Amino acid sequence: MDIICTDKEKSLFDKIAAAAAAMEVPCYLIGGFVRDKIIGRPTKDVDVVCMGDGIELAHKVADAFTPRPVVAFFKTFGTAQIKIGDLEVEFVGARKESYTHNSRKPEVSAGTIEDDQNRRDFTINALAISLNKEDFGKLQDPFNGLADIENKIIKTPLAPAQTFSDDPLRMMRAIRFATQLNYHITPETFQAIIDNAGRIKIVSQERITDELNKIMCSAKPSRGWDLLSKSGLLKIIFPQMMELHGAEYIDGRGHKDNFYHTLQVLDNLAEKTTDLWLRWAALLHDIAKPATKKYEEGHGWTFHGHEVVGARMVPKIFTKLKLPLNEKMKLVQKLVLLHLRPISLTKENITDSAVRRLLFDAGEDLESLMMLCEADITSKNKHKVQRYLQNFELVREKLQAVEETDRIRNWQPPITGEMIMATFGLTPGRTVGIIKDAIREAILDGVIPNDYEAARRFMMEKAAELNLTAVE
Ligand code: CTP
Repeated sequence: MDIICTDKEKSLFDKIAAAAAAMEVPCYLIGGFVRDKIIGRPTKDVDVVCMGDGIELAHKVADAFTPRPVVAFFKTFGTAQIKIGDLEVEFVGARKESYTHNSRKPEVSAGTIEDDQNRRDFTINALAISLNKEDFGKLQDPFNGLADIENKIIKTPLAPAQTFSDDPLRMMRAIRFATQLNYHITPETFQAIIDNAGRIKIVSQERITDELNKIMCSAKPSRGWDLLSKSGLLKIIFPQMMELHGAEYIDGRGHKDNFYHTLQVLDNLAEKTTDLWLRWAALLHDIAKPATKKYEEGHGWTFHGHEVVGARMVPKIFTKLKLPLNEKMKLVQKLVLLHLRPISLTKENITDSAVRRLLFDAGEDLESLMMLCEADITSKNKHKVQRYLQNFELVREKLQAVEETDRIRNWQPPITGEMIMATFGLTPGRTVGIIKDAIREAILDGVIPNDYEAARRFMMEKAAELNLTAVE
């Protein structure tokens, strides 16, 4: 098989081949590495399978390098890893596996290369390349994986129900590969996902979320979410997303289907940024629409407060999905909360004060917020989209003009709490907060300019109202 390898990879494969020959065990490159090399995707994870002891082979290969790399091995699984530069090489003995019904942990016994290929998840992941003297470089392709790569097809080597029931994470992997590679899952394989969806419950949340993040990082993440929905998996792993489905009609007035609207926003944003967390913000921006939906006579459908309720849902969703509860979560929450604000600035007669408040609230995330809002325009009417985008251009201009004069982004109060305490001999407490907030509000409302002198004068006035006298 002609695959394009670097000199470092070639020399590694020669060393593996020599070590395996010395041990007299047949050995192959297998799995994701072979798949990605054929597709031409960059890959650093090399999987090697041998018909013998994978850990011993890893040690022998390590011996051939100076300095000798560390061999990390896991006796219970019979696997070993070494790092050669940026390549992570994993060795395993060929296995025949059988699974128990309630666990993803297989019972393993030694097997042939065919046994090992049989137990792999998809035909495109079951390709092996020989590292043996007699047929070095020959592709072993018992399930026509190469043709499936050419035809962009995801299917299992064995009966799909068996493959998914053995390891239900593979249902997520099927959808993830289909999304990443833009491949099609065969109807038979997809039907087996539908039939076995309930088995996803035995898979750990971390593994599920890993796959969700890989879907999110794909060029068109909507494909993955749509397949998750159609397969029945989404209902189990993320039911709030399913509730976005459908358009309700009363008196002939409907609202848009928020599931497909959300996916469109996600794809629009994915065209502009690879940032995973901005993509999560797009996915969650309307998550509270079902919870806040009302039909109001004369008005039609409303979703009042969905941005506030949605922002409150973000930590709960992150906790459930075991996504990190750190500043990334806070960013997602902030963007969900603020996602309607820029559009409100497209109305006429907008005051500088409203613009200043958005600059203040969005701070350094203003550009991300604007990106989300532009992605949120999903009308099918091209003229409408054009008009909205032009309006946003005006919003950007307004934001820039106000920022240039008032410098509100990354705002630092011209008078700090320490200054207030020192001036009036106060200890930390409510009064300090009242004066600080009053100064900030006065600046945002344009009552005083954003500078030290004005803020100090304002502080003295406010203090007088509170019967405070300066001590310095
Ligand atoms: N594999 C499998 N079933 C799984 C996980 C992995 O059969 N649930 C097999 C596949 O042959 C896969 C190989 O193990 O190609 C390596 O798995 P892994 O490194 O997790 O995935 P890759 O296929 O390499 O893809 P990626 O790195 O994108 O996750």
